[in-house]
Amino acid sequence: MKAIVQDRFGSPDVLELREVDKPVPGDNEVLVRVRASSVQPYDWHHMRGEPRIARLMGSGLGLRKPSLSILGADVAGEVEAVGRDATEFRPGAEVFAMLKGGGFAEYVCVPAGELAPKPTSLSFEQAAAVPMAANTALLGLRDAGGVQPGQKVLINGASGGVGTFAVQIARALGAEVTGVCGTRNLKLVRSIGANEVIDYTAEDFSRNGRRYDLLLDLAGSHSGSACRRVLTPKGTLVTIGGPAGRWLQPAGHVFATLAGSLFASQRAVMADVVRCKRNRQNLVTLTEFIDDGRITPVIDRSYPLEELPAAMRYQEAGHASGKVVITV
Ligand SMILES: NC(=O)c1ccc[n+]([C@@H]2O[C@H](COP(=O)([O-])OP(=O)(O)OC[C@H]3O[C@@H](n4cnc5c(N)ncnc54)[C@H](OP(=O)(O)O)[C@@H]3O)[C@@H](O)[C@H]2O)c1
Repeated sequence: MKAIVQDRFGSPDVLELREVDKPVPGDNEVLVRVRASSVQPYDWHHMRGEPRIARLMGSGLGLRKPSLSILGADVAGEVEAVGRDATEFRPGAEVFAMLKGGGFAEYVCVPAGELAPKPTSLSFEQAAAVPMAANTALLGLRDAGGVQPGQKVLINGASGGVGTFAVQIARALGAEVTGVCGTRNLKLVRSIGANEVIDYTAEDFSRNGRRYDLLLDLAGSHSGSACRRVLTPKGTLVTIGGPAGRWLQPAGHVFATLAGSLFASQRAVMADVVRCKRNRQNLVTLTEFIDDGRITPVIDRSYPLEELPAAMRYQEAGHASGKVVITV
């Protein structure tokens, strides 16, 4: 089968299109013919092996060489074959999943317990945009943030892969949403349901005097103390991402935010989708929101598998409007 493989850490130049053996499903696994995947910061952190501190923290990047030779955490496709004990799925079924990697290939083996039926209202391309980004948004807002109907929610980084889902999920959960994004994306963020938008190039959300019950911080553009300034006295800051760096960031930003909030009246929590044990269950919840029309994936661009290096470069530049999808 065709796959994009990497043997060493580095820029998108380390990604090579190769013929590799088609995987064989174990007893509890399902072989999926991948139709689409998508790109996110998780992929290029693994591609580069950065931040380097994460290599020492057992994050799964690998110490000296990549632990994953085939990246691609999001998968949408068709069941090709099933293992002896994977009786829930039949060949031909349309499915999607969030994996550690393996999606940038024609076939991938997925543990049956991680696979969910694809939302019927979505194409494979749209479905591949969902798993990691939408799971992160749901985890941050509902589980870490405990968002309640009627609460005021600020989403910093509202126009990216996670942000475009977060705006829609927060609205679906009954919140009043303000999205922070750049000038180019103001119209987009309004169109997916934000009640208000703030252009970060024209206004500093931490200095406009408004208060929110929950801040979902995807961009990491402000310190923890600046973020807490916009929260109500019992508000919650959910820190998810931050600017990328070679050695420490975004991990340094997230941990500094948590440490600096230890003695504050407001709660500060981190949401980590990679360690979350409910990702499959959350995909089923998201499917309900999608199939009843409350959430629609926003796709910025789509690239064929062979052009994965270009897709990585575009995503890594940090200004995608929604998701960058890979067709296989
Ligand atoms: N903890 C986890 O489990 C987890 C999971 C997924 C993602 N993440 C992290 O979450 C972050 C967002 O991920 P993503 O997939 O949404 O990334 P993305 O698709 O690259 O989106 C980044 C967005 O940030 C916006 N942005 C850039 N500078 C900004 C600023 N100063 N103020 C406000 N917004 C700004 C950009 O908007 P404009 O184009 O409008 O400038 C862009 O839309 C990343 O740091 C990622 O590593 C963490």
